[in-house]
Amino acid sequence: MSILIKNARIFMPGGAFRTDIFVSDGKIKEIGKNLSQKANANIDATGFYVFPGGVDPHVHMQLPTPAGPSSDTFESGSLAALFGGTTSIIDFVTPRKGQSIVEALHQRIAEASPSLVDYTFHISPIGWNDNTESEIIECVRQGFPSFKVYMAYKQSVGIDEEVLFKVMKAVGKAGGIVVVHCEIGDEIDRLRDSFVIEGKISPLYHPLSRPASTEYEAIKIAIATAEKTHCPLYIVHVSSGESLQYIRHAQANGQTVYAETCPHYLLLNDQKYVGEFDQTAPYVMSPPLRKPTDSAKLWQGLSDRTFQTIGTDHCPFSLAQKAAGRNDFRLIPNGIGGVEQRLELIYSFGVGNKHITIERFVELTSAEPARIFNLLGKGRIEVGADADLIIWNPEKEKIISAKTHHSLCDNNVYEGMKTKGAVQTVIKNGEIVIENDRLMQRIPGKLLLRKR
Ligand code: URP
Ligand code: ZN
Repeated sequence: MSILIKNARIFMPGGAFRTDIFVSDGKIKEIGKNLSQKANANIDATGFYVFPGGVDPHVHMQLPTPAGPSSDTFESGSLAALFGGTTSIIDFVTPRKGQSIVEALHQRIAEASPSLVDYTFHISPIGWNDNTESEIIECVRQGFPSFKVYMAYKQSVGIDEEVLFKVMKAVGKAGGIVVVHCEIGDEIDRLRDSFVIEGKISPLYHPLSRPASTEYEAIKIAIATAEKTHCPLYIVHVSSGESLQYIRHAQANGQTVYAETCPHYLLLNDQKYVGEFDQTAPYVMSPPLRKPTDSAKLWQGLSDRTFQTIGTDHCPFSLAQKAAGRNDFRLIPNGIGGVEQRLELIYSFGVGNKHITIERFVELTSAEPARIFNLLGKGRIEVGADADLIIWNPEKEKIISAKTHHSLCDNNVYEGMKTKGAVQTVIKNGEIVIENDRLMQRIPGKLLLRKR
């Protein structure tokens, strides 16, 4: 398959320019003015922009929880990703207690095989034993050099500071990077339990049991431990404006600290927890939504480069699953969707409201996640790169709804939001897969193996 894209206005971190692009056999073969190769398909991109395919560094497809798996399988979640212009995702490998992480990795690789976008994984050690260090080395050797640990969820996957130190030391030595969910789990568990004992059982107590201090105190510990162990650090889903000062301080000291935020922390706030259970439970995710003043600080952090990436933490649950916590907010499965809406939300409200430039939009949603996590050939438009491209219509208007989204979830936290700017065409691996909101063909995604 070959495609000639004429009159493309390309946006890349280095700037914007107008050119033609010739794609064949899954790769970008030529970029230049007045290209005239014979191609199977010709696209006139006049009036549109061309971006590298989106890279979402943080998704959870079919995540097992006590309330059942998160709504999207790898197939449905990746289809949703494609419709939104995301062509690569990073999901997670979480072993069962006592299971080898290498065995869990191979199980997860098999589960992900129906994916329609390219995929790889962050590996989650959930404890430490005599084999953990050698297993970390083996995961890096097999092409998985990023590891995620949870400082929250102490009853299930969360780890303590001693294990955090050991994981960071081993990963740093092996040439990898540690991704951390920063929330002080013990303090959160104490607050949650005391609210429930007092009969405070509604979703309103979800944010109150996870105050901003539980995030930034965890961030301070993660930064200090990463510094001691010489381990690169990536902090996921930063929600609080106060957290930014600690990240900035570490970055200014020359420490390798990357930070991610998510569309929901930029666009929604804690008023969503005020009201009846059925209206508020869908917004239960961790960390929780915060104040509009926090969102303003996060937008600032995107433009001043404190943040490198925007991920979605895509992990939606149906209303029936959320209802597991009707009489106890602690039992509501945590998570929301967003993999399909990430680009259109950030373009509409980030670029549209002049918080960020279009070049910065491309960095945050594609180029930087690809660079930080070593997804070779992704996140760039240059000769030799993978032909994962999106043709973007800056004028296309949409209204987000669970009725029209491609996720299997029956609710969408962005329901009713109006966006301007959306995907016109998605080229994946050199093939046109989405055109005018229609799936043109199903091409299996590839497992991406990464160097350390
Ligand atoms: O609420 C969230 N974030 N759910 C997904 C799992 C996680 O904590 O990343
Ligand atoms: Zn997550």
